[in-house]
Amino acid sequence: MSLWDQASSGFAYWQRELWQPLADQLVAQARLKPGEHVFDACCGTGSSAYPAALAVGESGRVEAVDLSKSMIDLAQESWPPLPQLSFAVGDLTGCSAIRSYDAVLCGFGLFFLGSPNEALALLSAQLRNGGRLVMSSWQNRPFEPLSSIVVEALAEQGVTVRASPEVRNIGAMNSAAKLSELLNVAGFGEIQLTSVRHRLELDADSGWQFVQGSLLSSSLPQQPAALAKLRERLSPELAGLSIHADALIANATKTSASKTHAGKG
Ligand SMILES: C[S@@+](CC[C@H](N)C(=O)[O-])C[C@H]1O[C@@H](n2cnc3c(N)ncnc32)[C@H](O)[C@@H]1O
Repeated sequence: MSLWDQASSGFAYWQRELWQPLADQLVAQARLKPGEHVFDACCGTGSSAYPAALAVGESGRVEAVDLSKSMIDLAQESWPPLPQLSFAVGDLTGCSAIRSYDAVLCGFGLFFLGSPNEALALLSAQLRNGGRLVMSSWQNRPFEPLSSIVVEALAEQGVTVRASPEVRNIGAMNSAAKLSELLNVAGFGEIQLTSVRHRLELDADSGWQFVQGSLLSSSLPQQPAALAKLRERLSPELAGLSIHADALIANATKTSASKTHAGKG
């Protein structure tokens, strides 16, 4: 079971206030046209795939893939079926180069696909020349001060949280300058970046769901007693906490100079 299988219910809890509004902005920035073929990489519960499918219409196609079966199950339960939309479970780190999509969407997923350069090459390999990568990343250090509060509480329980490769990847693209440079080096052109300010107000329950439904969950103890103790310890601090989830959305065009992952195809 992947981290995201375990995190899927906490993730879905924040669909309406976090994932959906940010996915709607991602799809708006993609400026999809009827008839376009779209690949939604790391689609989660389908927050961007469904509005993308409405935008391309029945003459278009949206293929949405996620590593987590629980996420794909939630996506299939959450949205009315559309003939142009398909969801599938798959690990994108092993996917073939398709080189035919008009647009690739990737909402907060690039961090999980290897180093930023590898991940961009992998997604670029799905696009035709002139196709657009439309992706989102977090700005600054996301979810603060929640992340620091959780790390401190874990430290009190003797758990030292070390930055995972995914957290380091988030840090490698957490500003317009960094993201733009990465896209540039990967050979993308016409790079347009949009900064989105997003704040969340937590209470003890919703804050705990947030911890369990985000990357923070990878640091949580597995043992039920230790988990319950941590929840109790965090409750007073989560109540009334305001956190930031500011995003950056990039729309970048694949040029003939784009570096693509050799892939299998
Ligand atoms: C933060 S969620 C974002 C989901 C969705 N794009 C959204 O914005 O609501 C990241 C997603 O990436 C998926 N993921 C992680 N590694 C992956 C991989 N190697 N291949 C495909 N999906 C992956 C996870 O299962 C998770 O659903």
